[in-house]
Amino acid sequence: MTSLLVTGGAGFIGANFVQYWATNYADDSIVVLDALTYAGNQASLEPVASHEGYRFVHGDIRDRELVTKLLVDDKVDTIVHFAAESHVDRSILEPDAFIRTNVTGTYDLLEVVRDVWLGRDDAPASHRFHHVSTDEVYGTLDPDDAAFTEETPYAPNSPYAASKAASDHIVRSYHHTYGLQVTTSNCSNNYGRYQFPEKLIPLMIVNALTGKPLPVYGDGSNIRDWLYVDDHCRGIDQVIRKGRIGETYNIGGNCERDNISIVKEICSLIDQRFGNDSELSAVYKECPAASGKSTDSLITFVKDRPGHDWRYAIDASKIESELEFAPQEIFESGLTKTLAWLLENEPWWRAVMDGSYRDWIDTQYQS
Ligand code: NAD
Ligand code: TYD
Repeated sequence: MTSLLVTGGAGFIGANFVQYWATNYADDSIVVLDALTYAGNQASLEPVASHEGYRFVHGDIRDRELVTKLLVDDKVDTIVHFAAESHVDRSILEPDAFIRTNVTGTYDLLEVVRDVWLGRDDAPASHRFHHVSTDEVYGTLDPDDAAFTEETPYAPNSPYAASKAASDHIVRSYHHTYGLQVTTSNCSNNYGRYQFPEKLIPLMIVNALTGKPLPVYGDGSNIRDWLYVDDHCRGIDQVIRKGRIGETYNIGGNCERDNISIVKEICSLIDQRFGNDSELSAVYKECPAASGKSTDSLITFVKDRPGHDWRYAIDASKIESELEFAPQEIFESGLTKTLAWLLENEPWWRAVMDGSYRDWIDTQYQS
């Protein structure tokens, strides 16, 4: 039995991972530690709220006293570290929080882990610190460049990518210097349920449904390599269970798409859904599809992101051959599922858009 601590478990991937773990390893205990920044949403953890062995702790990874207590009290032997500031555009406007959480926060967490797991007699017999990172640490690719492998030199371009790169290096050093049992995964762009609607795919879907412009940066030719979030969760699980200590594993879905194609695909999926379901037109009157127009009429090309990386692509052959990992979702079905989830869970994204998802904090923590 594992005693798991998931940092950042109220965020997009963390919440999916906690649900995945609770479903697949029902006997394990799971503690979620999350500071509930704007990206953290308690509602995303509702499906596991009554799961035996699950508990939520509102707190910061930089709070060493709190994290020490959690590790000791819950006899935590496995940490999956998702907590981070994760949005590139925000890192360009306000890098401060990125350095504080992603760099200093990861360091604080590692210091506590080093103390409790390596410096005490009652430490668990075995432990694992799994660090969740991104392909953005490798920089940008030209059209004919080979995809990123685990050997690609780091060349982060945004404050977000640089802060993640720094955290990867610190995690690595704690293995080499102190013998901490770590693994790291660097994954490509995720999409799926519970993604905060400021990232490309949920933003475009929510804006389209509510009749708002679909802001495509530059000419829309930038390429990302997309992976459905469930596949990422399975990939992390494989690395924790079968990965070699001290190694890093790239996780990706061999699914390169340029942004404009994705936005057009979302528009055409919405047009089809509205064509097949007349009730949607009554609910989302502002969506062009409600009045028989094409949703892509909302596409608006806007000023490009500064330093916008042109292309990311992951070579996932190491995890595929070593750990027998293969993504199960193809992009078209994953996108269809994501649209269906947002349609079925309108209260979730409406609460995010109007800010009421943060009421939980006020209710729970009023003095
Ligand atoms: P997210 O922004 O949706 O969630 C981050 C979570 O971390 C939030 O719940 C937030 O409240 C919490 N958090 C932030 N600062 C904290 C702190 N100081 N202490 C405790 N909790 C804190 O992010 P996400 O998209 O779910 O990404 C999760 C991880 O996966 C990140 O480390 C990110 O770098 C990595 N990643 C994301 C993607 C992607 O496409 N989203 C791809 C590859 C890797
Ligand atoms: P994003 O979801 O922010 O992920 P990342 O920057 O980490 O890859 O953006 C994905 C791509 O979509 C990226 O090339 C920027 C682009 N984009 C837009 O064109 N318009 C938008 O409104 C957003 C949020 C992103």
